[in-house]
Amino acid sequence: MCGIVGYLGSREAYPILIKGLHRLEYRGYDSAGIALINSKLDLSVYKTKGKVEDLENYVADKDVEGTIGIAHTRWATHGEPNSQNAHPHYSQSGRLALIHNGIIENYKVLKEELISKGYTFSSDTDTEVLIQLIEYMQMSHNTSIYEAVQLALKNVIGAYAIAIIDKSNPNQLIAARKGSPLIIGVGDKEFLIGSDATPIVEYTNKVIYLEEEEIAVMKRNGEISITNLSNVPQTPIIKTLELNLSQLEKANFPHFMLKEIFEQPEALRTSMLGRLNMESKTVRLSGIIDHRDKFLKAKRIIICACGTSWHAGLIGKYIIEELTRIPVEVEYSSEFRYRNPVITKDDIVIAISQSGETADTLAAIKLAKDNGAFVYGICNVVGSSIARASDTGSYLHVGPEIGVASTNAFTAQVTTLTLIAMNIAEEKKTISKERIAELVEELQQIPEKINQTLQMNMRIKLYAQIFTYARNFIYLGRGFNYPVALEGALKLKEISYIHAEGYPAAEMKHGPIALIDEEMPVVVIAPKRGMYEKVLSNIQEVKARKGKIISIVTKGDTAVKELSDFCLEIPDTEECFVPILSVVPLQLLSYHIAIAKGRNVDQPRNLAKSVTVE
Ligand code: AGP
Ligand code: GLU
Repeated sequence: MCGIVGYLGSREAYPILIKGLHRLEYRGYDSAGIALINSKLDLSVYKTKGKVEDLENYVADKDVEGTIGIAHTRWATHGEPNSQNAHPHYSQSGRLALIHNGIIENYKVLKEELISKGYTFSSDTDTEVLIQLIEYMQMSHNTSIYEAVQLALKNVIGAYAIAIIDKSNPNQLIAARKGSPLIIGVGDKEFLIGSDATPIVEYTNKVIYLEEEEIAVMKRNGEISITNLSNVPQTPIIKTLELNLSQLEKANFPHFMLKEIFEQPEALRTSMLGRLNMESKTVRLSGIIDHRDKFLKAKRIIICACGTSWHAGLIGKYIIEELTRIPVEVEYSSEFRYRNPVITKDDIVIAISQSGETADTLAAIKLAKDNGAFVYGICNVVGSSIARASDTGSYLHVGPEIGVASTNAFTAQVTTLTLIAMNIAEEKKTISKERIAELVEELQQIPEKINQTLQMNMRIKLYAQIFTYARNFIYLGRGFNYPVALEGALKLKEISYIHAEGYPAAEMKHGPIALIDEEMPVVVIAPKRGMYEKVLSNIQEVKARKGKIISIVTKGDTAVKELSDFCLEIPDTEECFVPILSVVPLQLLSYHIAIAKGRNVDQPRNLAKSVTVE
């Protein structure tokens, strides 16, 4: 997720921290903040919604003196993006300040416990719970801040990279991590920390990569000690940074789109965190559980979305109907809002939007609510308009998506819809416990299977060079993979400006087949699961007209492979999970074709990341 910077040494911390935050801006964020301890031992926290520049303006007339400090750019996961929820967060006594990247999954339980002990909270974040817990541990165990951090982290479920300063000890900076990265820069009697190396590289090339569950204590005299949560001392291994700044900005990827495609395994793990219970083999989404009755009596689900989110909705329809037997309609928000649709009190409207700001989807929600329907929002951006307008919902938690072409939000939307379907099915008992357990087991494997799929990147790059000539593309799929065909075509159109159309494979003979000749690339999604034999026949039809076939098949396939000019293999999985894998080679194909054609993939012409006009 977002950005962390810290400094301890003999220089003024503020300019280093602000520069570091600017360096981390590429990650996308919604608010920023800074904490400094000055020479009078005052601990000041300044934070604001908006850009790092807004923070600079805000502190222009404030005291920013001090040689120790921490700074943060936040991408909200818990609580709206506003100044109150921005980091750093103070402890109850105002003695400690903490910044955090990640998600504390069990924050609710911890918060309730702390409230019962008299703690009060000034934000809605999961992060504030952590700093209060650390202070509570320190007071109740009468121990050092380091031990308190260790005790607190032992009670935490989730992901974190954190940094803490303590005004009663301005010569010490503490950092720890699990799940989210944290790097320590080692200078001459000075330390820098960063969520990646971008804020550090300018000052030193000596770095320590903090490992899982390690806590580092850095001292002003240049000493550093690292221990793990079980209190076993670790030898700090200092490595030399060989990267330059420009490489680091996109985590070594040339474009945000490619970075986001490659981030999908991790993004989906985060998205499922706390929602898949691997012990009981069940699914739990608070948005469903808290409104169980609504879902049990729902007569119909209407999904409203636009673009890529609409494609995710189509896949959602297949999965929800299959698992829950509730009829699902998928609507373009822009059509739904203006066509006087039939909406009843027993309908549930699921609004899907990465940005959470799409004007048509927002209007669709308003119409649905005015007619008494219950609205479930699926958004990525926390506190966005659609998230706020919905009655309940789920966040995707994939981190900021910066490339205009949506990739990791799409796979997370499909995953979230799958979780919704599984959870409703569990509650309605429309499928057996054993079947749910099988699906949970398999869903857990999906991130690793995406990893395997990503291994084809270089091969796809080679294929892409061959197809730069094409002026048209056809994408075909059936069942769960029909919407994937639509999404593959949209991705190609958006960033390469090649005309592309997606069809249900069997529809081809009702018209589009007229377009097929030896020049026409036809991408066919033909996994072993589902209507394999039928798709095979559709491929024969294309082949007979000399179309160029690029197929996406299940590993080990032979029949489709033989008919294909180019073939890409994905791992086998449950039929309803195939789209999450089959879309990945299509994302890569459009990316590489667009690059080969010299397009600006992150900011394609005429498109905006968030469409706030109708
Ligand atoms: C996706 O690649 C597109 N840029 C676009 O279709 C997008 O999905 C659509 O505008 C909807 O956006 P939203 O998910 O933020 O509502
Ligand atoms: N979960 C924390 C919050 O919502 C941290 C988010 C981040 O990584 O920026 O405040």
